[in-house]
Amino acid sequence: MNLDYMKEFVSTGLKVDSRGIWILDQTQLPQRETWLPSPHPEAMIQIIRELKVRGAPLIGVAAALQIGLLAEHGADRVQIEKALIDLREARPTAVNLMNAMDRMSDVLQSSGAAELPAEAERICLEDVRLSDGMAENGARLIGAGDFVLTHCNTGGLATVGIGTALGCVIRAARQGKGVHVFVDETRPLLQGGRLTTWELEQNKIPYTLICDNMAAALMQKGRVTRVLVGADRIAANGDFANKVGTYGLAVLSKFHGVPFYVVAPQTSVDRDCPHGAEIPVEERHPFEVRGARGAFGNVEWAHPEAKVWNPAFDVTPESLVTAWVLDHGVFDRNDVKLGALTKGA
Ligand code: MRU
Repeated sequence: MNLDYMKEFVSTGLKVDSRGIWILDQTQLPQRETWLPSPHPEAMIQIIRELKVRGAPLIGVAAALQIGLLAEHGADRVQIEKALIDLREARPTAVNLMNAMDRMSDVLQSSGAAELPAEAERICLEDVRLSDGMAENGARLIGAGDFVLTHCNTGGLATVGIGTALGCVIRAARQGKGVHVFVDETRPLLQGGRLTTWELEQNKIPYTLICDNMAAALMQKGRVTRVLVGADRIAANGDFANKVGTYGLAVLSKFHGVPFYVVAPQTSVDRDCPHGAEIPVEERHPFEVRGARGAFGNVEWAHPEAKVWNPAFDVTPESLVTAWVLDHGVFDRNDVKLGALTKGA
């Protein structure tokens, strides 16, 4: 990218320099840190589909930067419009991707292709500020000595800032609150076991890794004081989609009286989606459930013909949420009923 400040942009999972866009291949973590170039939209679509780059805010930013690069390389309007549609469809659940592509499309219509790199940079730098707002708001809800259970990966690998749910925990830890994190391993793709542990090690925050099916026993023993999760799409009524397993944690939290918070930027809110039943849930390939693949090797433990159901996300109803932590505020159920989520900052 040409603009000077982007030449130096580096986040945990994405870099931009004078040669282009680089993605840290998250499927190889924590064993290997491999940076992949993404020279054109087709490369980025593949990278997004294979979850080499992942996390709702980060895929929106990565796609926007790719469109910015395409415009900078002199692509014509037809090529850019096609790339906007194809990138928008790379994954169906995280609305951040659609919001970012719609924003780029609006700029293309109103100001032309020359303005697209600058808009991509605005989307990228804005995500850092949104993360910071969530971290500040969420850290206030975390008390000294809290035991926080989290699911999937919601840190710097899922955004270009400090993160969503994990960002709040990292901020609270940096404030000296002495937090301990319980990390759900997050089957089938192990974003908790592979990525969240990697980030917590880097941040020197104490944690304990558990298999997803251990959360209930942990709560029964009173060892979880708060649950913080992210969101891929929040409907206007407060229902939200997040990594499959989130709904189970919400039910468990209600049963055990543990506060359950969803943390997301306003770019994860779908103003046109009235409730969770309307959120499209991605279904992925059976091999992800029949075994596991990564830099640790490839294993298949199930029968190769085993029938599989593999939804990447589930939908948690608003009735199970204690509060919605956004970049611009913390909202309770009354706020949400009055339309707080769709009003914006
Ligand atoms: O399939 P993934 O790894 O992209 O799923 C990511 C999540 O479910 C996160 O919790 C979500 O994007 C919100 S936090 C950035």
